[in-house]
Amino acid sequence: MLRTHYSNEITEELNGQRVKVAGWVHEIKDLGGIKFLWIRDREGIVQVTAPKKKVSEEVFKLIPRLGSEDVVAVKGIVNFTPKAKLGFEILPEEIIVLNKAEKPLPLDPTGKVKAELDTRLDNRFMDVRRPEVMAIFKIRSSVFKAVRDFFQKEGFIEIHTPKIIATATEGGTELFPMKYFERDAFLAQSPQLYKQMMMATGLDRVYEIAPIFRAEEHNTTRHLNEAWSIDAEVAFIESEEDVMELLEGLVAYTIDYVRENNERELKTLGFELEAPKRPFPRLTYDRALEILMDLGKEIPWGEDIDTEGEKLLGKYMIETEEAPLYFICRYPTEAKPFYIMKYEDRPEICKAFDLEYRGVEIASGGQREHRADKLVEQIKEKELNPESFEFYLRAFRYGMPPHGGFGLGAERLIMRMLNIGNIREVILFPRDRRRLVP
Ligand code: ATP
Ligand code: AMO
Repeated sequence: MLRTHYSNEITEELNGQRVKVAGWVHEIKDLGGIKFLWIRDREGIVQVTAPKKKVSEEVFKLIPRLGSEDVVAVKGIVNFTPKAKLGFEILPEEIIVLNKAEKPLPLDPTGKVKAELDTRLDNRFMDVRRPEVMAIFKIRSSVFKAVRDFFQKEGFIEIHTPKIIATATEGGTELFPMKYFERDAFLAQSPQLYKQMMMATGLDRVYEIAPIFRAEEHNTTRHLNEAWSIDAEVAFIESEEDVMELLEGLVAYTIDYVRENNERELKTLGFELEAPKRPFPRLTYDRALEILMDLGKEIPWGEDIDTEGEKLLGKYMIETEEAPLYFICRYPTEAKPFYIMKYEDRPEICKAFDLEYRGVEIASGGQREHRADKLVEQIKEKELNPESFEFYLRAFRYGMPPHGGFGLGAERLIMRMLNIGNIREVILFPRDRRRLVP
């Protein structure tokens, strides 16, 4: 390999030893008799110091000819010295130019010159060279690692369901149609129907991490047209509370994992991620409406809590309960999809919940209606055709246990965890109303 050590792996024990570092030219300084080169790699920056008397003529002459963002590999001797800002430097024996960068650069990767989000996304390959941006994607990787760890630990089985489907799952309006040979098909909005069907198999506890596709017409800071969903479904639950506990455990585990494993990245972002306080408060929808009413915002019973209402509630929950994370539960049946179970004694509300993080919904879920006849009724009540759900309904007729689950938006979780305002910051190549390239 062209590299033996990342910048952060050069410790005092390596003093006097030969190492190979590699990366991008971050900065060059020419003081005549001594030349400096700073190389940036994934983990930080190393200083290469070339005093005329101590390095070959070839190396000495090469340094000033380098341009910023050229890719180089340096072989040299580690020298720990208080004179170097980072505590050590590398005295180069050999510098290889692996690739030159064209000029002008489309972006300033040091971040000194600010760029618009659009310019950054058009040049994402270079945008990610900035430590603050790279930190987000290192944290994103940790989030997915933590989620898998958690599910494994809890005895879940990972499943993979089709993304080319024939029926809408989350209401008919936000589907991407596509041609499937001579038939019409859609991109999956969620694995909802398939993960539920798995509850009739005996797998009992399943999860899936996969993209979901939603034809959201509007450009908002929290909607993507292609997002990553963390879905779970569990059989033999007593109530939606079992599912809420599971989701709470997952989110708390993930936040703790990031706090423990991404200290450097959090520092780079200048963000203090607070430990999750459990249990997360459970607000009923009715109570949420009362609070909003007191805050001067009236939402007619039955309607979804809008973006402004969510924000107000988020602020209120932090101020009064120090709770950035909280559930809203017992939603009106009319505001939720057909597959959610109603309360027997109060059928106008149902066993659905949303999880909110700093005033933005990051997950929804609930207990499902597992009784085939009631499910058919509910499909009809939503003015959908039970015939188009036949493949799904079949799974309910031959032994379907009570079950429930949730869908957690990975980008929503990450953006709210890091208190980032725009969801596009936390996905490499966002798909939104305008963006299809890169
Ligand atoms: P879900 O898919 O569960 O509904 P969501 O977070 O997208 O998750 P929505 O129910 O779509 O939530 O929306 C919640 C609120 O956000 C809506 O009541 C609406 O005020 C606002 N909202 C949703 N979609 C948009 C949009 N495309 N443009 C502007 N505001 C929106
Ligand atoms: P819902 O439609 O609420 O529920 O979606 C679940 C979660 O997915 C995320 N999400 C999105 N993230 C970014 N951009 C989008 N356009 C987008 N749409 C949704 C959100 C949301 O909370 N089947 C149910 C879940 C279940 O009951 O198991 C569902 O899809 O974080």
